[in-house]
Amino acid sequence: MVAQILLRVRRRNSKEAALGLDLPNDDLIREPRAETHFGRLVHADKARDGRREQKTMLLTGASRGIGHATAKLFSEGGWRVISCARQPFDSERCPWEAGNDDHFQIDLSNHRMLPRAITEVKKRLAGAPLHALVNNAGVSPKTSTGNRMTSLTTSTETWMGVFHLNLVAPILLAQGLFDELRAASGSIVNVTSIAGSRVHPFAGSAYATSKAALASLTRELAYDYAPHGIRVNAIAPGEIKTDMLSPDTEARLVPSIPLRRVGTPDEVAKVIFFLCSDAASYVTGAEVPINGGQHL
Ligand SMILES: NC(=O)c1ccc[n+]([C@@H]2O[C@H](COP(=O)([O-])OP(=O)(O)OC[C@H]3O[C@@H](n4cnc5c(N)ncnc54)[C@H](OP(=O)(O)O)[C@@H]3O)[C@@H](O)[C@H]2O)c1
Repeated sequence: MVAQILLRVRRRNSKEAALGLDLPNDDLIREPRAETHFGRLVHADKARDGRREQKTMLLTGASRGIGHATAKLFSEGGWRVISCARQPFDSERCPWEAGNDDHFQIDLSNHRMLPRAITEVKKRLAGAPLHALVNNAGVSPKTSTGNRMTSLTTSTETWMGVFHLNLVAPILLAQGLFDELRAASGSIVNVTSIAGSRVHPFAGSAYATSKAALASLTRELAYDYAPHGIRVNAIAPGEIKTDMLSPDTEARLVPSIPLRRVGTPDEVAKVIFFLCSDAASYVTGAEVPINGGQHL
């Protein structure tokens, strides 16, 4: 049986090689649709929880865009979602369980507020472990005409504000919630960006450098936290349809994206879910691009 499969793989590979293709062996493995696979992953995570305690996450910036899709998906997967943002909880738009009680308002760009954020989370956990910290809140300031803020003209206030939210808040949250994450053998996901590794037509210098630093921080944390059983990864989205996207993005950038479209917040949420699940138990220190091939 194994020999037959190997023979078919070899035949298939030699056909592809002759055509200069690098295709999956899809005649051997008929993959079910991605949703089915993903449904199983969510279900498996949920089923395990049924036997043990409910898993809990802290998600920053859950009110819109990628954060909103992430909170919705984790909550459908049976997780408790503790969230924070500057705006109050909106139960019309955010229909997850205990959303109001588990949401607190905070400006994470003010590092003096971070001890309060950590206290708010600990209060809600009441001694329970934290299975995931997702550092998603971020800001990408543009000029008044919606253009890229260059390294020549960006003000000190903008540099500081961007770095405090995009880099310092993730560091302080990871430090402050270390014990709770260790108790759960939990994981951290930092949301970086394609702009961290290449100059982007809309994202400014402060944003790009803060995301590059966050990618580097991900490696540092992964190394330091691994002996304590905590995994740390990043996801680097490309062009995702949220409020952050510039109005010209689709017209200007989609023609150069191999998949010929922008991504959806849902597609990002699924990768975050995977990284926080047991399915990624040997993945740490990775930065996963989610960009339709834009970096190729
Ligand atoms: N969309 C993209 O194409 C793209 C591409 C690459 C990377 N990303 C990254 O993905 C993450 C999410 O982006 P998004 O597109 O979903 O953005 P978004 O739609 O603008 O949402 C940002 C979220 O962060 C919260 N937030 C902003 N400033 C905050 C502050 N000072 N304190 C606390 N919370 C704050 C916002 O809530 P409040 O306004 O209520 O505070 C909101 O929930 C960001 O880190 C971003 O850099 C996005």
